[in-house]
Amino acid sequence: MSPDREFITGLPKAELHLHLEGTLEPELKLELARRNGVDIGQTSIDQIRDSYHFVDLTSFLAVYYPAMQVLVTEQDFHDLAIAYLRRAAADGIVHTEMFFDPQAHTDRGIPFATVIDGLWSAVQEAPALGVDASLIMCFLRDLSAESAMATLEASLPYKDRIIGVGLDSDERDNPPEKFTEVFARARQAGYRLTMHCDIDQPDSIDHIETVIHRIGVSRIDHGTNLVEDPALVEEVRDRGIGLTCCPMSNSFVTVGHTPTMKGEEIVQLLRAGVKVSLASDDPAYFGGYLVDNFVGLVERMDLSREEVIQLARNSLEISWLDAGRRTRLLDRLEDYVAR
Ligand code: ADE
Ligand code: ZN
Repeated sequence: MSPDREFITGLPKAELHLHLEGTLEPELKLELARRNGVDIGQTSIDQIRDSYHFVDLTSFLAVYYPAMQVLVTEQDFHDLAIAYLRRAAADGIVHTEMFFDPQAHTDRGIPFATVIDGLWSAVQEAPALGVDASLIMCFLRDLSAESAMATLEASLPYKDRIIGVGLDSDERDNPPEKFTEVFARARQAGYRLTMHCDIDQPDSIDHIETVIHRIGVSRIDHGTNLVEDPALVEEVRDRGIGLTCCPMSNSFVTVGHTPTMKGEEIVQLLRAGVKVSLASDDPAYFGGYLVDNFVGLVERMDLSREEVIQLARNSLEISWLDAGRRTRLLDRLEDYVAR
């Protein structure tokens, strides 16, 4: 029998693929637009929701970036992150590693310090909400490598607030090797490494191979096309490289808007022993938070109780928590399962 929503909610788990800017719900978007006197072209929740027509990654990003203009002050960034952290706690998330896109803000004149100070004050409040939280800085791959390098340098004074770096935005014509030097420098600075390999991109397998062999990531965000290369599946499994898969997002950003969530592929990788975890990507845009993603996949793929537990276990195992904290959270998971 498949586990139900209540069991899944109570399961201690980590969320490792979550864009904070993608948690901007229409209600908060309107509130911040009013607070900052920003004209977003829409004045009601319905109008905002009606503008969400995504048929692929590019059309999603075309709605996603303009909405960020409502984020102006340190307080705005704090409020954005706190709203997500409350939601995460309600979903039984005990640890989250949250992406943010500094260039999407600094390029419109918001200082790096405003972004990081606002987000960091929320991170510090997270334990009181019952969640551990940390920040991953993503570079926008459709901007230049020089811009990414400058952002990396700007982040160094705040290095103790950022656990790692990632790569997001439009993958088409922006392969991982464009950022080889930036990621080498990030590694040297002590950051952990992950990169998006989005769904069904031209050259998906090449990109996955590059992030493993040339960039040396410890996780891949999405990366589901891995399933097409059995030898690479074995390598990813043997090296314990984690995948952060986002079922609801997959239904939106795959070309033609397929409702399959890439469920077959995700489950095939899980059953092959790859450390697959689930995440919500941009929940305010893709219709659901982490538990919704679990429930959606369970219903579509008829996952067993043990498989659902393994997804949660993987999320803690591939997290960038220190070993002691990770062990304590894994113990909590096993206690919950035993009860
Ligand atoms: N930025 C926010 N969500 C993203 C996604 N799913 N892929 C690439 N970049 C993103
Ligand atoms: Zn993503």
